[in-house]
Amino acid sequence: MRKCIVQNDGTDDNMVKLIGLKNLFSKQLPKMPKDYIVRLVFDRRHKSLAILSDDPKVKGTDDEIIGGICYRAYHDMRFAEIAFCAVSQAQQVKGYGTKLMNLLKMQAIVEGVEYFITYADNYATGYFKKQGFTRTISMPKSRFHGLIKDYDGGTLMECYVHPAIDYTR
Ligand code: ACO
Repeated sequence: MRKCIVQNDGTDDNMVKLIGLKNLFSKQLPKMPKDYIVRLVFDRRHKSLAILSDDPKVKGTDDEIIGGICYRAYHDMRFAEIAFCAVSQAQQVKGYGTKLMNLLKMQAIVEGVEYFITYADNYATGYFKKQGFTRTISMPKSRFHGLIKDYDGGTLMECYVHPAIDYTR
């Protein structure tokens, strides 16, 4: 297993990975409009952290992607919004969801991000809670007001990322 950060930089390699991520999110988040997923995954302000399989047989196919999180960092405000988070059906409940989030927390420290914020699907709030997210938003509203769109059918959750913690230990 290896991790990578993917962004729409026009390279063939990243395009293949972004298409795989778009397919993963569309499959695992069926209620999300597909065009919205495409727009955000390929938006140049968004990045995705992906966990990839080392199996040479799946290299370059959608099956290479075990899981991914698409996020947008607002560096001035030192927070990031998690747009989509998913693990492929066959790989769920094996700990990859936790691995993904821990790797993203380490990436947040590198990028100077202090808080994550997300609209969690109601059936996924348990997963986010286990990753340290709370329904209580301690970040001052002025930091994210106007940047995060209200979204019906989800629960706004927040996670503080401590810069001195090694989340991968
Ligand atoms: N509700 C409650 N607890 C959960 C859920 C859930 N839906 N999913 C996982 N957990 C728990 C597990 O039991 C585990 O607990 P433990 O550490 O005590 O054993 C812990 O969370 C982590 O489990 P993992 O095996 O690491 O999680 P997994 O690899 O299955 O990934 C994920 C979790 C990403 C939610 C996956 O099930 C998935 O892709 N689901 C479909 C897509 C989805 O719902 N994504 C989130 C939507 S919201 C958004 O994207 C902003």
